[in-house]
Amino acid sequence: MGFKAIRGDIVHAPSKESLEIHPDSYIVSDGKNIVGVFSEIPEAYGGIEIIDHEGCLVMPGFTDLHTHGPQYANLGLGLDMELLSWLEARTFPEEIRFSEIVYADRIYRQFVRDMVREGTLNAVVFGTVFLESTIRLMEILESSGIRAYAGKVNMDRNTVKGMTEDTRKSLADTEELIRRSKGNDRVRPILTPRFIPTCSDELLSGLGRLAEKYGIPVQSHLNETLSEIEWVKELYPDSSSYAGIYENFGLFCKTPTIMAHCIYNSEEELMMMKSGNFFAAHCPDSNSNLSSGIMPLRKFLDLGIKVGIGSDISGGDTLSIRQCIVSAIKCSKLRHAESDESILPVSMTEAFYIATRGGGEFFGKTGSFEKGFTFDCIVVDDRELHPAEMPGIDERLQKFVYCGSYRNIIARYVEGNPVDPEMVMEMDLPVK
Ligand code: GUN
Ligand code: FE
Repeated sequence: MGFKAIRGDIVHAPSKESLEIHPDSYIVSDGKNIVGVFSEIPEAYGGIEIIDHEGCLVMPGFTDLHTHGPQYANLGLGLDMELLSWLEARTFPEEIRFSEIVYADRIYRQFVRDMVREGTLNAVVFGTVFLESTIRLMEILESSGIRAYAGKVNMDRNTVKGMTEDTRKSLADTEELIRRSKGNDRVRPILTPRFIPTCSDELLSGLGRLAEKYGIPVQSHLNETLSEIEWVKELYPDSSSYAGIYENFGLFCKTPTIMAHCIYNSEEELMMMKSGNFFAAHCPDSNSNLSSGIMPLRKFLDLGIKVGIGSDISGGDTLSIRQCIVSAIKCSKLRHAESDESILPVSMTEAFYIATRGGGEFFGKTGSFEKGFTFDCIVVDDRELHPAEMPGIDERLQKFVYCGSYRNIIARYVEGNPVDPEMVMEMDLPVK
């Protein structure tokens, strides 16, 4: 592995308060990890390979901390409903089609291609209850070259026929997925109980045991809508909180844990979320589309709770984390306006941080260009976005985030290796 550098107009957010800008500079790496950012190649690195993107923006790739691969065909459809009726009417009938590996292969390839096109280099993905198609999802993610976690969904009650799992088989299939994905560093399994209403006690406690046995992370949904929360209360009248139910089964921060939405949280739950193992996936597009509510993002930032952005398709209507940044900012402004204006909106720098380094932390050192971070980035040719003169890099970032497109992203790198989104369509993965 040789040293190499990338040249361009560099921008990243190493903290939520700071946007760092390096006009016409070089990110130098040992091939895999970043050594530093320099305005000239230091003498000690003279003669190393240089990937020259002079004049282009070079920024961290995005992390999608919560998305549903099998809902891709439903993108933009059926959004005049709220969560529980939408799940029943639109989502479950689509997910059931993934019992067919041929169908799963077709949709998952397009899902992964389009996600990578949008500059997502780390993704945490829900599959379906079906083992073989979830393994296919992992194979496709692997062939794409990005980093990912993927989970086989667990549901043994309150769903539809054909997706109601036998509890023991659900646990056995989950363990089989863990076993079959061993040795793969870039694409890993994550335990995925769909949410409390679709999982029995026995299933939840079995998953808690698997989390402990294998040290596997957990993802689920939490406090997304008021009617969902009511339902959870009916199912567990003696529990002090929704998050507490996950915790009682060993599924809340025993291992790294992502909870999507987190809109309606009690003070007790917010304190639980301050755990170093906790990540909230903020899904502003989904929360707007399904009329779920506005997540109190400012409060999370003030409390130091870790947050990333989730596209949550097809509750969300776009795979573009760039667009989700815009939605996160807009939602925070609505919350600001609806409050007595004491709740401050989130800034572009804060939202960009959350979408890159914030969610990236779930994967380790990725999402910014600090020394020791993995050499991951996207390259943006934004000339067409500026009909007049080119502004400063700060404004170029704003313009790309608000008005850009995946077509402006001309290159992507993970650990110094180029990632080509079109590859996943060509990859030879036999359908068994
Ligand atoms: N809660 C349980 N399942 C889902 C899902 O598929 N999408 C969303 N947005 N919320 C859920
Ligand atoms: Fe979701």
